[in-house]
Amino acid sequence: MILITGGAGFIGGNFVHHWFERAERLGLPAEPIVVFDKLTYAGNPATIASQLISGRATLVHADICDSEAVRQALATHQPRAVLHFAAESHVDRSIHGPGEFIQTNMVGTFSLLEETRAYWNVLPAADKVTFRFLHVSTDEVYGSLSDTDPAFCETTPYAPNSPYSASKAGSDHLVRAYHHTYGFPTLTTNCSNNYGPYHFPEKLIPLIILNALDGKQLPVYGDGLNIRDWLFVRDHCEAICQVLEKGTLGETYNVGGINEIKNIDVVTTICRKLDELRPRADGTKYESLITYVTDRPGHDRRYAIDPTKIQRDIGWKPAETFESGINKTVNWYLTNTEWIDTVRSGGYRDWIAQNYTGRTV
Ligand code: NAD
Ligand code: TYD
Repeated sequence: MILITGGAGFIGGNFVHHWFERAERLGLPAEPIVVFDKLTYAGNPATIASQLISGRATLVHADICDSEAVRQALATHQPRAVLHFAAESHVDRSIHGPGEFIQTNMVGTFSLLEETRAYWNVLPAADKVTFRFLHVSTDEVYGSLSDTDPAFCETTPYAPNSPYSASKAGSDHLVRAYHHTYGFPTLTTNCSNNYGPYHFPEKLIPLIILNALDGKQLPVYGDGLNIRDWLFVRDHCEAICQVLEKGTLGETYNVGGINEIKNIDVVTTICRKLDELRPRADGTKYESLITYVTDRPGHDRRYAIDPTKIQRDIGWKPAETFESGINKTVNWYLTNTEWIDTVRSGGYRDWIAQNYTGRTV
């Protein structure tokens, strides 16, 4: 049994599916999962409904800041590992309201660490040795690169620039300190931008696909030349599985796809894919919907990951190119309209109004 926080979100939800599909592929037993999730606007049980219905995954609807709820879940389910995905994850939201980011990402990680350490402390000796706490983090903790800087490696100094990345950096430091001080068996992954199925449509790639299909403007911040290092979400999930199995305690691993792409190129790639798969009724190209809007305050220019360590020490490398991953993603959004309808709740609409009003969309 493993317990994962944030398993109803984008990456956590994909991880639940990946976990069981991988076990089947490798002929391993389907080790059950407990999903511990507050179900914020970003948490959607529909993402993992099939696994919940089959009984392979169980949902505990609770907040990681609630120590008593964490304690109870650990005592009841007796996991051999805790994988920590839960977070407030959207940079733009962190600019509008940083408080929740500090609460969940820092205070929540602290309370999860405290409760999990207490649980681990009294495990039988053999279980204590094999127990793992895997913290899922981001490359944004390293700050912004210029066009000529080398990619982030594990020894790059932390220089977070947004309330989101600062709160994730704080959580990384706590995890590090728990290993260093208490010998708590931690592993940390710092991954680049993910994309793929079940992505909440406030982030660039799903927002562009769905706006395009709705005939709405495609908002590109600033000059559109900011660079992100895109990784298909299932490649990230596989990296997490492998780090859990083979990672050295106390270490951090950078995870990335060597796929540095300018935002405007991401947007035009999606437009061309949609022109091919779902041409517009009036014959115009989706690119005609591209609209440059006011830049994000403090917008990081470039992220890039050097994945040498995880490739060398763990043996992981991505299976998808950006071309193959974006094909899968666009096709998924074209066929999974039911899931899209479930996330297009009031919360999502309010967010669009708040974030894009005055941004000239
Ligand atoms: P997401 O916003 O899609 O999902 C977050 C999940 O956490 C949701 O299910 C939400 O309900 C849950 N949650 C939020 N606050 C909670 C709380 N207080 N208690 C319990 N559950 C809570 O995020 P994501 O994109 O799936 O990211 C998952 C993790 O991966 C995060 O830690 C993020 O920092 C990290 N990460 C994300 C990316 C990316 O590109 N999305 C890249 C690298 C790292
Ligand atoms: P996002 O998906 O929010 O991820 P992050 O900020 O964590 O990298 O944004 C990816 C890039 O796309 C980022 O440079 C901001 C930009 N962006 C836009 O240009 N328009 C948009 O509407 C959004 C949401 C993002």
